[in-house]
Amino acid sequence: MTRKAEPYRIKMVESIRMISREERQKKLQEAGYNPFLLKSEDVYIDLLTDSGTGAMSDNQWSALMLGDESYAGSKSFFKVKAAVQDIFGYNYAIPTHQGRGAEQVLFPHLKNHAGQYVLGNMHFDTTMAHIEMNGMIPVNLVIEDAFDTQKEHPFKGNFDLEKLEDFIVEKGPENIAFIIATVTCNSSGGQPLSMENFRGVRKIADKYSLKIDIDSARFAENAYFIKKREPGYENKSIQEIIKEMYDMGDYFTMSAKKDAIVNMGGLIGIKDEEEMYQKASTSCVPMEGFITYGGLSGRDMECLAVGLYEGLDVDYLESRIGQVEYLGNELRKRGVPIQWPVGGHAVFVDAGQFLPHIPAEQFPAQALCNELYLEAGVRPVEVGSLLLGRDPVTGVQKKAGVEFMRLTIPRRVYTDNHMDVVVDALAAIWERRDQVKGLEFIYEPKVLRHFLCKLKPIEG
Ligand code: F0G
Repeated sequence: MTRKAEPYRIKMVESIRMISREERQKKLQEAGYNPFLLKSEDVYIDLLTDSGTGAMSDNQWSALMLGDESYAGSKSFFKVKAAVQDIFGYNYAIPTHQGRGAEQVLFPHLKNHAGQYVLGNMHFDTTMAHIEMNGMIPVNLVIEDAFDTQKEHPFKGNFDLEKLEDFIVEKGPENIAFIIATVTCNSSGGQPLSMENFRGVRKIADKYSLKIDIDSARFAENAYFIKKREPGYENKSIQEIIKEMYDMGDYFTMSAKKDAIVNMGGLIGIKDEEEMYQKASTSCVPMEGFITYGGLSGRDMECLAVGLYEGLDVDYLESRIGQVEYLGNELRKRGVPIQWPVGGHAVFVDAGQFLPHIPAEQFPAQALCNELYLEAGVRPVEVGSLLLGRDPVTGVQKKAGVEFMRLTIPRRVYTDNHMDVVVDALAAIWERRDQVKGLEFIYEPKVLRHFLCKLKPIEG
């Protein structure tokens, strides 16, 4: 018998309900056709994000009671530090309130002068914002195949190494602030980076004396893909693979709300540079809080120290990524175009292909998100031209490489029955896709507009 189910059973449940279609129509209209503005109680299956939405385990909940709330030198902090040293092999750890907290503390110290470039496979949006707020320029250098959703490629989070080196040579290494490797690469579809690619990036970084920061929200999921897909790693443990990955970096910034399965938390890891640790510590105090709590309570750090290890469990990872893959496979069987192969934390539906009659400036992925909410009370998120925004100089709407609708799966939260509801709903929309309408603004904020904008369907 090889069939396996989830490696846990459910001890506590949280009720959810589906409101009627008429109510959903009313709520969506009130929310300005922007799912971010819906109340969660009006959502049946919430696939907005996998960030902070995971279910903590019995071990995490009981660890919470051990929280040491001392302002300085908390016992709970030293548990987190020991976990970082053990799992990643990095000497220094600074807790932060979440991933973007880590970015705001560390990034200013990775810059020599304004106008330097930061080279990534693909930057997450808050990461990009922190780079820009520090006067640096983010550049995406992911492989071209990442944007061909139908193309089979095991590592669509890989850097294009030739482009990376060419860029450094063209601009001069003195104009590069640092390299950032995002694992898994959220923006290209939760896609992994291979160990071989990591090694290539390290080699180039060494050649031009550059540092590497690993944006580590989904580090364990990336390691799992390496184990499954990269020759030579099938018999290595997740821990061994993570050690090897992090050997290639100098620092990491982490949103612990994903693979470390906590509702709030972040981390900075520094391999061995004491001077960098001192600089980051000095910034942490006014920005996040004293260096042994960094915006977290003692009980949060307890849960984090446990969650960092739970996220490495190979049976858990198999079941978690297996569920995302199940959703992707079922959608594919019904003809729904998705980023292929399926990523680690989400199925990314290619809304441009789903709704070819809606142009980028009418936001096809947002239109599909709304339609899915109307159909079955499911809340996905747009990762396309609405999120991308306008060219800051010309004001012209930018066009995303792919108009993605992300179905993001929280960890240990929903069952495959919930996935089936999503499949049936999208399959029903697929049958009447030509009736879905594009959107136009009724209110458009100047920055990060996708969170707060209001829209309406274009009639006619
Ligand atoms: N880096 C990556 C790759 C992320 O996916 C996120 C967050 C962050 C950094 C920032 O971390 O939210 O803890 O401050 N991603 C969430 C998402 C919000 O929905 O993908 P944070």
